[in-house]
Amino acid sequence: MTQPPVDLVVRGGTVVNADWSGPATVLVRQGRVAGLLDADADLPGSAREVDATGRLVIPGGVDPHTHIGQTLGEFTMRDDYERATVAALWGGTTTVVDFAIPKPGQAPADAAAERRQLATDARCDAALHACVVAWDDTAEDQLRSLAADGIRTVKLFTTYRDQVMANADTILRVLETLRSLGGLAYVHAEANHVIEHCQAEQAARGRAAASSHAQTRPSLAEAAAVEDVLSTAEYVGAPVYFVHQTTPSAVDLVRRARGRGVPAYSETGPHYLALDARSYAAPHPERFVCCPPLRDPEEVAALRLRARVGQVDTIGSDHCCFDTAQKSVHADDVRAMPNGLPGVETRLPVAFTELVVNADVSPMRFVALTSANPAKLNGVYPRKGVIAPGADADMVVLDPAEERVVRVEDMHMATDYTPYEGRRLRGWPSVVIVGGRVVLEDRVFTDPGAVGVPLAAQEMPTTLLC
Ligand code: URP
Ligand code: ZN
Ligand code: ZN
Repeated sequence: MTQPPVDLVVRGGTVVNADWSGPATVLVRQGRVAGLLDADADLPGSAREVDATGRLVIPGGVDPHTHIGQTLGEFTMRDDYERATVAALWGGTTTVVDFAIPKPGQAPADAAAERRQLATDARCDAALHACVVAWDDTAEDQLRSLAADGIRTVKLFTTYRDQVMANADTILRVLETLRSLGGLAYVHAEANHVIEHCQAEQAARGRAAASSHAQTRPSLAEAAAVEDVLSTAEYVGAPVYFVHQTTPSAVDLVRRARGRGVPAYSETGPHYLALDARSYAAPHPERFVCCPPLRDPEEVAALRLRARVGQVDTIGSDHCCFDTAQKSVHADDVRAMPNGLPGVETRLPVAFTELVVNADVSPMRFVALTSANPAKLNGVYPRKGVIAPGADADMVVLDPAEERVVRVEDMHMATDYTPYEGRRLRGWPSVVIVGGRVVLEDRVFTDPGAVGVPLAAQEMPTTLLC
């Protein structure tokens, strides 16, 4: 039987998946990868060809942790799905997983329905995490119907009292329910009682400003909450994923639990690998305020080591698009500040530079951290996170030697600053392909249009990642 012609050929490059890498030509038909050929095989006729000679061809990035246009407390982030996903594409990320955080008193299912509608404007695939703040009689049914609709990951916060903090009972019930639904809890783990006490003590000494942020949220608070949630997960036999881990001790707790057979996973963020608490002693410390905070250089070095040796599973941007005006309103009191850093566009270059360029991590491991593992832990693998027949044709061609200096005026996020201003980074995409369409080439962006329906998650893998 003769095959229909292919729509796109990506030839001459080195294909890098998490589990295989080598020279190959990628064929694309109707938005999907149709096959991989030997680099010297005869090519079928194709409407379009991308020459990737001398460059890497990786699966599009999967960002497991974004906050797009969200309202957190008094402040609303400056972006929306269109703006954030265009920026994601410029940075080589072709799938984002965003949070449906309920407004005060809102049901998780209603928050998710609202987000689903907003996400139809995305320019690349967007999946969603739900969020449970307080368990009630309706919660189990809500989680069940969310799972049936393709939302199987649920965020839990152990901090931010009176906003989104969940108590221990809620955490247990969510973990227990997700176990039966093939889902996964995404936990922001910081011990709130320690943080509130510490913030009050520091404020009494006149140290509530952004410059004291790291002292107000000690590393111990992160470890304490991770330990606590891990015990609950182990007790109910549920998997658990810790978002934005910032300390070696927190990562080690997850790793030790893995050693006991607990399916526990560790995410860190580019900013926790590339920046440190010295930013709080520099001008405009408020622009670096995120929770957990940036840590001391020694802790950052120890965290980076763990990421290098494979003890971290994913890298999520924790993208929060506040601008400098919003960040500065309460710069004198971190208890009232908008937390979080813009980063969906810089996630891949910062991670590539810190890990592949500066630390000799293999491009395959880089793909595992930034694409394959996030896809697996969001139930969208192997549709996403791999270049293989049947997968969505989301790909990035990048020249590992090309270096660019970060300038906010060259960025596409809806803000007026980047925490990486002036940094020399590698790992920028030269070509980005989404669903078989070339959307970025030679720094020219072609809007693919709104993607429509959000991406649905399948059941999570029950095996541990390697
Ligand atoms: O500082 C952060 N990370 N803000 C966003 C909300 C969260 O905690 O993930
Ligand atoms: Zn968080
Ligand atoms: Zn977050």
